[in-house]
Amino acid sequence: MTQLPGLLDTEAIRKDFPILDRQVHDGKKLVYLDNAATSQTPRQVLDVLSEYYELHNANVHRGVHVLAEEATALYEGARDKVAAFINAPSRDEVIFTKNASESLNLVANMLGWADEPYRVDSETEIVITEMEHHSNIVPWQLLSQRTGAKLKWFGLTDDGRLDLSNIEQVITEKTKVVSFVLVSNILGTVNPVEAIIRRAQQVGALVVVDASQAAPHMTLDVQALQADFVAFTGHKMCGPTGIGVLWGRQELLEDLPPFLGGGEMIETVSMHSSTYAPAPHKFEAGTPPIAQAVGLGAAVDYLTSIGMDNIARHEHVVTEYAVRRLLEVPGLRIIGPTTAEDRGAAISFTLGDIHPHDVGQVLDEEGIAVRVGHHCARPVCLRYGIPATTRASFYLYSTPAEVDALVEGLEHVRNFFG
Ligand code: ALA
Repeated sequence: MTQLPGLLDTEAIRKDFPILDRQVHDGKKLVYLDNAATSQTPRQVLDVLSEYYELHNANVHRGVHVLAEEATALYEGARDKVAAFINAPSRDEVIFTKNASESLNLVANMLGWADEPYRVDSETEIVITEMEHHSNIVPWQLLSQRTGAKLKWFGLTDDGRLDLSNIEQVITEKTKVVSFVLVSNILGTVNPVEAIIRRAQQVGALVVVDASQAAPHMTLDVQALQADFVAFTGHKMCGPTGIGVLWGRQELLEDLPPFLGGGEMIETVSMHSSTYAPAPHKFEAGTPPIAQAVGLGAAVDYLTSIGMDNIARHEHVVTEYAVRRLLEVPGLRIIGPTTAEDRGAAISFTLGDIHPHDVGQVLDEEGIAVRVGHHCARPVCLRYGIPATTRASFYLYSTPAEVDALVEGLEHVRNFFG
């Protein structure tokens, strides 16, 4: 097996993930390279989830009985864990949602219903980028349509990075909010956060960061980042599906209006009006994803025990190796940065004129799971004049041997399609 300095002990780590032992298609060893879509779940998280349902399941914040108290303590304990994981100044700044899309929609709607000084209207502008996931495009389009605010964006360079050459024209005194992705899910690009945030702060715009492809892979420190809101999701970071996070600065959460109304987000309700609970509960209407939050807490414990810096180093080594090996494949074009610097562990590519869906299907027959399509980032495909890409994405359990398997699989694809 290829051994490279900086790798984690994947032999030990893989024992935590039962699914990685699976075989598919009549005995083919599973090579799971679709981690940007969803990561696998370690036993440590599976155990916490089943223990929750076996012993503690109840609704939170409502009952006086033992199970309700235990469930509440576990749910709120998960909030403490997430707050520590992202270095939030206060646990009350951590809002649980269903996923990152809901987190981003929540911010757009908070701002959509806000009064001055946050009000977004026809005199103001919203800035995003051309490399956003649809979940960081569509909510802002909806807000722009509703309010008349102008939607602007940063374009992309030919090598898959943000073109910030016109930053002063894109982010102006009229800009109310700048929302951008920290690590692109399709290009793998790690964006120059500081330059964007510095400019946004100059003009007094709020900054929203989509950290869905960052939180699982590197240390995420919301205080160092200096954004106003940060969104991410549990199922890409060893947690369950159905749980996302929106972190927001406390004074903003106090000032901004709720989006969804219902149980648990109120202080009092009469037939004429209601007052709201303080954040984060103001933004968590109804029964929350309790087991999922508890599972996310366990995932955070798991990642912390391995160390986010160790995970980042491991993925950097695997990604560097993968970029080098993939560029050796005849006809392969990486869509995105072709060096491992300032890039995450998702690598999109095209292979000659073979359609990515065909590439994905032949790889699947070899047991190799990748994602194909526009990866919910269709403007990126339009920008580079391609219908879709094949994307391989790595995580803490990915190995150089799996990169070799991918390259070998691509040889099969090339032979198959002549
Ligand atoms: N956002 C996920 C992806 O990039 C689903 O695959």
